[in-house]
Amino acid sequence: MATGLLKYRNGNKSVQISIVVGIIGILTAGYFLLLQRAVPKSKEVLERVSNVSHALVEGQVEIYRHDNLNLQPEKECTEEQRHKISQHLGLESGNVGVAGCNDPDWLDSFFEEERDIGTESFLGISVGCNKGTDAVQIARLGLSDVNFNVSAWTNFIGSIITVCPPREQGPINFPRRNGEMHCIEPMLNNIILVNNASQHLGLDRKQFVVTQAAISARNGVVKFPNANAGAEACGIQGCEGWVDGANNAYTDVPLYSLDSYVEKFVSSNGPINVLAIDAEGWDFDVLFGASSVLDRTYYLEFEYHMIGFTCYWLSGRDLWRITECYFDVYNTWHYWSNVACVHRSFTKLAERMEMRFITSLEK
Ligand SMILES: *[C@@H]1O[C@H](CO)[C@@H](O)[C@H](O)[C@H]1NC(C)=O
Ligand SMILES: *[C@@H]1O[C@H](CO)[C@@H](O)[C@H](O)[C@H]1NC(C)=O
Ligand SMILES: *[C@@H]1O[C@H](CO)[C@@H](O)[C@H](O)[C@H]1NC(C)=O
Repeated sequence: MATGLLKYRNGNKSVQISIVVGIIGILTAGYFLLLQRAVPKSKEVLERVSNVSHALVEGQVEIYRHDNLNLQPEKECTEEQRHKISQHLGLESGNVGVAGCNDPDWLDSFFEEERDIGTESFLGISVGCNKGTDAVQIARLGLSDVNFNVSAWTNFIGSIITVCPPREQGPINFPRRNGEMHCIEPMLNNIILVNNASQHLGLDRKQFVVTQAAISARNGVVKFPNANAGAEACGIQGCEGWVDGANNAYTDVPLYSLDSYVEKFVSSNGPINVLAIDAEGWDFDVLFGASSVLDRTYYLEFEYHMIGFTCYWLSGRDLWRITECYFDVYNTWHYWSNVACVHRSFTKLAERMEMRFITSLEK
């Protein structure tokens, strides 16, 4: 899991931004609309109807749902803030991005300082849990349990090269909470390692739930590449250092939408305190299958880039393709423009948009 955040990948550069659900803003509002369209409305869970209660009855079960109707809109940021953002991110110099290891210490201090985390028990989900280190950190904070010892965890898996150093482990100030931390990881060697470490540290399997699965927009089975434990950038497409055709190059892994995963494996019906998604470029797919889960989520981290989408500048009725049509001048683009993106699996619309791009070029 890339702890922290949204990575805007631009070549090798990444910009990392964090989102706190509840103060999300335009971007998320935008793809919520996409979500509404992308996911078939077969189940009533997709409807956002509840301004009356914080729970919605689904079958016989009350499931927590945010009150989305009485939400305060996000404040528009001031000119000064915009200026600073631009300076900090180097937007004017065309230097888009701040790469590095994330350290979401706002989350740490929240759990360290707030006895009331909004729920009696804790529910955390890590999609793309990898070697489990961040999931252990989240569990430590959320469950308020010193047995989730990040140093001990990283000591155990220590032979594995880590890209980022383990994050600082703060104090536990409050009594243990009940709850669940879900570590969902598709790669077999990571699962073996995480299960082994979990057993070694004696972590309660009802609280630290390790599942070999891939999360995407739908359910099924996927052949997932199996590389060395801890290998970075593993996705359904392969891995760094992974050799197609090698022995056991793939394992069959169950594929769930996040909604289905939660229905099947999560016992709590309350809010999801922390949802961290690092699906190595498949994050949009994950979010497309996470409509009702997002309606329960307080805090969300995900990696954001445009895999699967084709994006265009939008001007009147014209479209100018950005994806695979990138100009260096965009690095020094001074003003904000509208961008329209379509997921390429949705070919009916994608084809129309590409046609429009072609005719726009002919003007
Ligand atoms: C819920 O929304 C409806 C329609 O906007 C409104 O009439 C009703 O008073 C709201 N209920 C509460 C409890 O806010
Ligand atoms: C956590 O693990 C480290 C390294 O194994 C150990 O030194 C430390 O005492 C542990 N802390 C607790 C509270 O168990
Ligand atoms: C589990 O950990 C133990 C102790 O480090 C090690 O000897 C063993 O090989 C590991 N098993 C697997 C399947 O990784």
